[in-house]
Amino acid sequence: MSAHQSDLIATDIDAYLLEQQHKDLLRFITCGSVDDGKSTLIGRMLYESKMVFEDQLTALEADSKRVGTQGGDLDFALLVDGLSAEREQGITIDVAYRFFSTAKRKFIVADTPGHEQYTRNMVTGASTADLAVILIDARKGVLTQTRRHSYLVSLLGIGRVVVAVNKLDLVGYSQEVFDSIEADYRAFATRIGLDDVTAIPLSALRGENLTEPSAEMPWYDGPALMPFLETVPLSHARPDAPFRMPVQWVNRPDLDFRGFSGTVVGGTIRPGDTVRVLPSGRTSTVARIVTFDGDLDEAGLDRSVTLTLTDEIDVSRGDVLVAADDPAQVSDQIRAHVVWMGEDKLLPGRPYLLKSGARTLTATPSAPDEVIDVNTLERRESETLRLNEIGVVDLVLSAPLVFDPYLANRDTGGFILIDRLTNATVAAGMIDGAARRSTNIHWQSIEVGKEAHLSLKGHGAGVVWLTGLSGSGKSTIANLLEKRLHSDGVHTFLLDGDNVRHGLNRDLGFSEEDRVENIRRVAEVARLMVNAGLVVIVAFISPFRSERAFARSRVGRGEFIEVFVDTPLDVAESRDPKGLYRKARAGELTNFTGIDSPYEPPEAPELRIDTADTTPDEAVERIVATLVGHWIIPAG
Ligand code: ADX
Repeated sequence: MSAHQSDLIATDIDAYLLEQQHKDLLRFITCGSVDDGKSTLIGRMLYESKMVFEDQLTALEADSKRVGTQGGDLDFALLVDGLSAEREQGITIDVAYRFFSTAKRKFIVADTPGHEQYTRNMVTGASTADLAVILIDARKGVLTQTRRHSYLVSLLGIGRVVVAVNKLDLVGYSQEVFDSIEADYRAFATRIGLDDVTAIPLSALRGENLTEPSAEMPWYDGPALMPFLETVPLSHARPDAPFRMPVQWVNRPDLDFRGFSGTVVGGTIRPGDTVRVLPSGRTSTVARIVTFDGDLDEAGLDRSVTLTLTDEIDVSRGDVLVAADDPAQVSDQIRAHVVWMGEDKLLPGRPYLLKSGARTLTATPSAPDEVIDVNTLERRESETLRLNEIGVVDLVLSAPLVFDPYLANRDTGGFILIDRLTNATVAAGMIDGAARRSTNIHWQSIEVGKEAHLSLKGHGAGVVWLTGLSGSGKSTIANLLEKRLHSDGVHTFLLDGDNVRHGLNRDLGFSEEDRVENIRRVAEVARLMVNAGLVVIVAFISPFRSERAFARSRVGRGEFIEVFVDTPLDVAESRDPKGLYRKARAGELTNFTGIDSPYEPPEAPELRIDTADTTPDEAVERIVATLVGHWIIPAG
């Protein structure tokens, strides 16, 4: 392998390695399509920095002769596209990170393919970038795609942009062409808040203005691309920013030592500094900054350290240590720009997992307040977000989150959303701030609690959740069950889909979104009733696993009995107690469960009732036995 050439390698390997270690690192992202010459540009940079493996170079010469488009000259695009063959093997997914280094700096470039999945890829590639290189083909000027990439760059908090106006050789190295493209771009950039823009005229193919000023463009007196990248200040490393460190783990090897380990994601910390622990709000003073190589006087961005404090205060994993005089915010309701990356659309009201730093919470998004069209920057209304769409959403969290607005700190201000069942990352979020509602709503502590209610009842509380197709027999079983429990002296309440849809949920229909909301409300009502000490019987189709899992999560362990009323579609359809299947088949009723709307059967219900060989009375007996087995009602 031939790393970037330095005489030090031969003369003093230790000095070379030290120099390498202390070189700073610029992370950048390139945006543009292959047609703009992106691969050629990246290939050139790798080549010029000599970070190309010898065997790749030999292969490149051979490939250039064989399939190159440059008449036997080196075709640098082949280098990049060739490297990305690994993508086909499924090693790299969508973003290729390439490393190279020059005498002055190390670089990591995130190369994102420009095809239709651009948003998802760009978000991944840009999340840690200091700078974006946006390619423009001099013959085409500023395109929709240029605007779209620039908007995302600005949204993702990359403040610094290089506009690489490429292929100047194809327009006769014309200053007029370059000037007019630069003016166009600047006008647009100002609109979206990008104000640190450097435009550089280039020919990546011919290597003009790449490493040194081009003789072909004497009219340009700015820097060539590589020297610019080598000297541009690193924007994210702001030592004066307020200190932030999410606690990854509490380090307690013995009784005498208790340290809090994590990576500094904002500002600088020194022994003697006062820190605040969030969300609790307690303060203390930093005693030591411990690392594997000894104690430090100071730790800045990206340093992994263990802090010890002068006081014995409660700190746990997921807490955030912040500057006491410039703390982060804490709220259980946030507003964020969300880039949707899931194949399935966003379902407002569905609980997702939210991951931010070392913290994982449940987050329930609202319908988007507005959806932004990245091509036109127009805002429109929508009830959902689809793949690659961006919207502004409020999220209700299961516990308070410590955060900063994304534009103040990309680590504490960024999060991802994960689908709880598939474990897929479905969105990336940039926090704008606390959602308005949260500031004035606090939990009121109530003195007569669940235990007090239960003590009067003489039994436990819980939910019997009957799920199954329309006409499967849920309501019949639910009714019989309630009669039986009632006569046994158990305090019950029956929530039936049809009935609740006449009152509390009469604003809801049968779209996916409405069903999610339907079940969310019923789950919350069931929870309230459990806290009131009741045995709640719920009979709703509740077709989605995710919402049933949510309902389960709202009550205590062992208090949720999921009963799958398992009746095959053809049987339910032949019963058709309300004539609805007939209507659905006739097309008079749409979104009918089992016909043109899905039913996701439970995977591990507490009880499965096969209605083909179980009578309603037998079903009730089995449910009662399960309630006894869960200590919800007494035996006998
Ligand atoms: S759920 O899917 O949101 O859980 P829910 O149990 O509240 O449904 O309501 C189902 C009842 O509404 C059915 O028993 C049926 O009587 C009625 N209904 C009317 N239209 C539909 C439809 N498109 N799909 C399913 N049920 C419907």
